[in-house]
Amino acid sequence: MRKKKVAIIGGGQVAEKVHVSYYHTREEIELVAVVSPNQERAKSFAERNEIPRYYTDSAAMYAIEKPDIVSICTPNRFHFENVMQALYYGCDVMCEKPPAITADEAKKMQEEAEKNNCILAYNFHHRFADDTRVLRENVLNGILGDIYVVKAKALRRSGVPGWGGFTNLSIQGGGPLIDLGVHMLDVALYVLGYPKIEKVTAKMYQKIGNKKSHGSFGEWDPEKFEVEDSLFAFIELEGGGLLQLETSFALNIKETSIMNVEFCGDQAGATLFPAQIYTDDKGELVSLLFRETADLDRHQKSMTAFVDKCLGEDVMIADGKQGYILQQLIESLYQSAEKGESVSI
Ligand SMILES: NC(=O)c1ccc[n+]([C@@H]2O[C@H](COP(=O)([O-])OP(=O)(O)OC[C@H]3O[C@@H](n4cnc5c(N)ncnc54)[C@H](O)[C@@H]3O)[C@@H](O)[C@H]2O)c1
Repeated sequence: MRKKKVAIIGGGQVAEKVHVSYYHTREEIELVAVVSPNQERAKSFAERNEIPRYYTDSAAMYAIEKPDIVSICTPNRFHFENVMQALYYGCDVMCEKPPAITADEAKKMQEEAEKNNCILAYNFHHRFADDTRVLRENVLNGILGDIYVVKAKALRRSGVPGWGGFTNLSIQGGGPLIDLGVHMLDVALYVLGYPKIEKVTAKMYQKIGNKKSHGSFGEWDPEKFEVEDSLFAFIELEGGGLLQLETSFALNIKETSIMNVEFCGDQAGATLFPAQIYTDDKGELVSLLFRETADLDRHQKSMTAFVDKCLGEDVMIADGKQGYILQQLIESLYQSAEKGESVSI
């Protein structure tokens, strides 16, 4: 079988650590090129990662390389144009999260993929953890009963990303909600089977990132800190359930970082990372499922699912439709926080 030709758009840290390192492990894949706007950096990325050719212009890359698969690893602002271009050339696409900046963009990306019969996957890697799979099976089997409260947390005490454009509103589209919170929203909705969202209410703050300049994820310029540094939300689900979100780049909490979801049903409750299910018996906590540690092999499993799907296997991916639902949710949460009122979806 001919190997699938893969190109990388955006030669930064996630491209290197996740996408390229994974593609090198698959014998069905041939990495052919990287595209990045800065020639020197594109060259050194290609050399460091044993990619034969580099480009600064994506149209030239498509004309010459004719890739089958493209990974989009640019800053958020450039996901839309690059995904649309890859789909135009008939490529299967793995796009980094979040899907885009606006819901309208994510909708067009979904439609273009469907129109061109291409695979469009987003790297929402937390849903590929064994913990997520096990918990989802238990939820589907009704072990938790009626799940009516879900608490998602994507919190960092002092984790403003110091590289790239993560504090720039127009490049990034927002702060921790669009960067971190979106991961826990995806995994919470995935476990619940992506229920319909009815209404959202959010409040966001900019209290620390515009004053400090150092943290555990590097340095930034507080005068150019344009995004929220924390956001809190109530998301009302069809059927009366509530999904609560807390997310931050910087917040005076005790823990360094929390990425987890708690599910409360009328029969039992659960945490996701690691997957544990418990209930109450006359005031005593009873364990129904206990995993000691969380599965950290999530990026690799996400990439495996995408490549397997491109090779024709019928496996789950985080697809264009769910990407659109998430982007719509993010947009509504920001609208609610800006207006100071609830937003119906
Ligand atoms: N799934 C995850 O957990 C995860 C983790 C980290 C980053 N990400 C996502 O990956 C994306 C990139 O993040 P990063 O940390 O690698 O950033 P980065 O700044 O390290 O890399 C981005 C790269 O894209 C290049 N670039 C900029 N504009 C471009 C354009 N128009 N065309 C082609 N290349 C362009 C930059 O030169 C840079 O090399 C973001 O969307 C981020 O949200 C996801």
